[in-house]
Amino acid sequence: MQRKILVTSALPYANGSIHLGHLVEYIQTDIWVRFQKMRGHEVHYVCADDAHGTPIMLRAQNEGITPEELIADVTKEHQADFAEFTIGFDNYHSTHSPENKALASQVYLANKEAGHITTRTISQAYDPEKEMFLPDRFIRGECPKCGADDQYGDNCEACGVTYDPTELKNPVSAVSGATPITKDSEHYFFKLGDFETDLKNWTQAGHLQDEVSHKLAEWFESGLRDWDISRDAPYFGFEIPDAPGKFFYVWLDAPIGYLASFKNYCERSGVDFDEFMKPDSTTEMVHFIGKDIIYFHALFWPAMLQGAGFRLPNSIFAHGFLTVDGKKMSKSRGTFIKARTYLDHLNPEYLRYYYAAKLGSGIDDIDLNLEDFQSRINSDLVGKVVNIASRCAGFIKKRFDGKLAHSLSEPTLFKEFTDQADAIAQRFENREFGQGMRDIMALADKANQYIDEMKPWALAKEEGKDQQVHDICTMGINFFRVLIAYLKPVLPQTAEQAEAFLNIEPLQWSDISSPLLAHEINKFKPLMTRVESDKIEAILEDSKQSMVAETPKMKKPETNSDIEPIAEEINFDDFAKIDLRVANIVNAEHVEGADKLLKLTLDIGLGERQVFAGIKSAYAPENLIGKQTVMVANLAARKMRFGLSEGMVLAAGPGGKDLFILNPDDGAQAGMRIK
Ligand code: MSP
Ligand code: ZN
Repeated sequence: MQRKILVTSALPYANGSIHLGHLVEYIQTDIWVRFQKMRGHEVHYVCADDAHGTPIMLRAQNEGITPEELIADVTKEHQADFAEFTIGFDNYHSTHSPENKALASQVYLANKEAGHITTRTISQAYDPEKEMFLPDRFIRGECPKCGADDQYGDNCEACGVTYDPTELKNPVSAVSGATPITKDSEHYFFKLGDFETDLKNWTQAGHLQDEVSHKLAEWFESGLRDWDISRDAPYFGFEIPDAPGKFFYVWLDAPIGYLASFKNYCERSGVDFDEFMKPDSTTEMVHFIGKDIIYFHALFWPAMLQGAGFRLPNSIFAHGFLTVDGKKMSKSRGTFIKARTYLDHLNPEYLRYYYAAKLGSGIDDIDLNLEDFQSRINSDLVGKVVNIASRCAGFIKKRFDGKLAHSLSEPTLFKEFTDQADAIAQRFENREFGQGMRDIMALADKANQYIDEMKPWALAKEEGKDQQVHDICTMGINFFRVLIAYLKPVLPQTAEQAEAFLNIEPLQWSDISSPLLAHEINKFKPLMTRVESDKIEAILEDSKQSMVAETPKMKKPETNSDIEPIAEEINFDDFAKIDLRVANIVNAEHVEGADKLLKLTLDIGLGERQVFAGIKSAYAPENLIGKQTVMVANLAARKMRFGLSEGMVLAAGPGGKDLFILNPDDGAQAGMRIK
């Protein structure tokens, strides 16, 4: 029976690039989707950028652009990366879309009418300078336990303790450097506890992996707390209906974004949205996610859907995290690898195959071991699979006009290959891709053994052995075709090239059992080349470099007079990127409404620049005019509340009165570069 399945992958945040960790998920989902499509099912695979929230709002501000501009740029980048990894979304949308706004309101209002929303006043850290509430990760300070400097608002990376942001010593806002105050505000809550009984049943009813169900049973023991779904302005998101100045927390409208993307697609393609979303739908809805976001998908999401009168998911498939060479991805080791950096050097299908070979149905982390990666690709794909075709194609082309024999000389052996179609299909269905790849490679070994034993290249030199050569190579090409069909969900591009070589229509799962006979094939072109070590080294090297420019800098407490520890090591190239120039201070003035800033007009011999510098506590403007200082001349301009800042001056000191701008000795000339 034909199944109708709506499939999603988690929506990547629109404030960063896709990296190899993300790709575990998108590749896993895409393999499953391609497999289901090959089986003839109706599958709709949708995704979107997750565009809302504080980090996206702040990043846009830092870049001096609107959040809308930022998310438009990022989605282009994301979609280009996904396309090259052949992630075959049927639709890629955005949570910042009219469909999502309408659906988020609908889901919220239905839950509100049913009594599942409540309000209460909470107090939170607030940045008085930036005039915004601060999420935990935007507060830094000293750990209340071990005293480590510059720790996040909710946990200490030095000693591992977790705490409330209010417990941090000498806290500062990472946004402005100001000392946060505590401020009250009314928040909206989703009463998750209302759904406790239903959720307990649902989470144990086979929709989740066993280990996930067990984990959730523990969470139930500690009780289901109300979920805070509102954030105060300024916030990039959707305003809550009838609650001016209050916005939906990004995680409320993010999963609804799955439905918004699907709705947008239905409107274009004529698929019936309501048929999929009604509570008694016979269609399936399946979410692939990472294990870090299980709570949102296995508790909040089904509860929200139920409260809104929609169907619930059939399955939530969680996967583990990617490590590289056994360790968490690391910027300094160069193992924090962006999709684009990989694509600059290697064929995306290698990574798809490697992940497939490593993935199982559980939530264990998976390791990308770079040496193992290289040898697997070279031995499995290049050495085994592609080799079968290259060993047989030449003979068929040259000696038999490209035509395969009229019958199979070894039908029983061929059947051994096709008999595995159901077992391999089960592996794909159950996401046991690693086991599936091992089954397929065992068949590839068998095919190569057959050719080794038959030695068509030796027979080809003997008189009167033409028929045998024809038979053997026809067997070989047929083995190759079956293997390619099995691998097609994993290697769609290679399969497409193989279909062109075999001169056949796109392979479906149901085609596997019938051999290709009395059929003309095309000239064989090598489908894949070996992975060379220098490519992997180049990826690591580029990853070290592409991250340097992005390491965020967090502001230090300005009152701390201790000597700061030395920052992360940089190499000469990093240093050389900074263009430091001697500048004449042509003008300096106070800035209306700013308590720390002075507005400087700097001449670096190449025209004047306007720079806002936080040095008001140490310098009176009139004492600066006519002096020289050092500025960073190639810093991207930044839009600030008071105007555009086109560079930065260098100053030293803990802050307050103890702040010293760098002042070159007499004789320096404006525009000189400091090296
Ligand atoms: N925006 C949320 C998801 C909202 S879904 C309604 C989010 N975005 S994310 O960009 O951080 O992650 C997207 C997906 O990639 C998540 O499922 C996450 O688990 C997965 N991964 C991100 N880093 C990963 C690894 N290092 N390894 C494996 N998967 C990882 O979460
Ligand atoms: Zn600590």
